[in-house]
Amino acid sequence: MTALKLDRVTKRFDAVTAVDQLDFEVPEGEVFGFLGGNGAGKTTSLRMVLDIIRPTEGRIEVLGRPPGRDNAAAIGFLPEERGLYRRMSALDTIVYFGRLKGMTPGDARREGLALLDRFGLAANARSTVDKLSKGMAQKVQLATAVVNRPRLLILDEPFSGLDPVNQGLLEDEIKRASASGATVVFSTHVMQHAERLCDRLLLLAKGRKKFEGTLDEARGQLPSRLSVVARQSLDGVAGVEAAEAGTEHGDGWREWIVRLRPGVAAGDVLERCSTDGIALRRFDEQRPSLHDVFLHLVGPAEARA
Ligand SMILES: Nc1ncnc2c1ncn2[C@@H]1O[C@H](COP(=O)(O)OP(=O)(O)OP(=O)(O)O)[C@@H](O)[C@H]1O
Ligand SMILES: [Mg+2]
Repeated sequence: MTALKLDRVTKRFDAVTAVDQLDFEVPEGEVFGFLGGNGAGKTTSLRMVLDIIRPTEGRIEVLGRPPGRDNAAAIGFLPEERGLYRRMSALDTIVYFGRLKGMTPGDARREGLALLDRFGLAANARSTVDKLSKGMAQKVQLATAVVNRPRLLILDEPFSGLDPVNQGLLEDEIKRASASGATVVFSTHVMQHAERLCDRLLLLAKGRKKFEGTLDEARGQLPSRLSVVARQSLDGVAGVEAAEAGTEHGDGWREWIVRLRPGVAAGDVLERCSTDGIALRRFDEQRPSLHDVFLHLVGPAEARA
């Protein structure tokens, strides 16, 4: 079944087209990264999925239905703008959200305590939100999004504001939700999180889809680079587009940064070096990072914007 489906969705705010003819599908059980720079249209898209705002054009299906209250209990959401009742305790906050999602008080409390424990906040269960640090409050907010064990978990920039330890904890929580069968959609502009977590991802720029596919497919958008240590240039070897001299390794050995021609695999070049009798000391394939792919597809100006 499809957890989420957008069909030519457009959202205009007066003169601004925030989301432009956006199409994508997320099958149930997938971890899906929604990537794009500032202003790309990520939050606007997610808000439409949650029925906070309506599309100008197009259709959205969430767990087989149009966005709305009917399936709210099956969805967990971490909004970009964090906001909790400052005078409510951490535990009461989580219980309150669990109750909104139809949980019994007992279940919500049990799950809330387990979450606080897992998030290293067991000692803060009774602290009011205004007494928590920003990162701690954010973990409480994350707990409110997952307390009902949603079938579809939607997280808007969940990593921002968390230190590296808590970013790891959040990654674990995403993997945990996924392992229990949930679909997870999260937005981010930090490619490394997506690289570690996503089954598939979508790249958005200026409201338009630039890419949708697996991490491998994304990397396949750009040729690999090779770092080769040899005694002679690899320029002229079949399949090599260009070989740039790198650092000297002494005794005539030197590193060559090699760009491959489109469609050529690293193994082909290795084989060719061997038939051509080129002695090698090192032969490393460096696959492009998601960041490289992003810059390639979106352009540095828009990637930064
Ligand atoms: N309520 C609104 N009224 C007018 N314009 C809006 C509104 N909400 C968003 N926009 C515009 O829509 C575009 C996309 O914004 P959006 O918040 O969806 O981007 P984003 O990808 O979430 O960016 P960020 O990474 O900064 O959170 C921006 O140009 C923004 O100014
Ligand atoms: Mg946003």
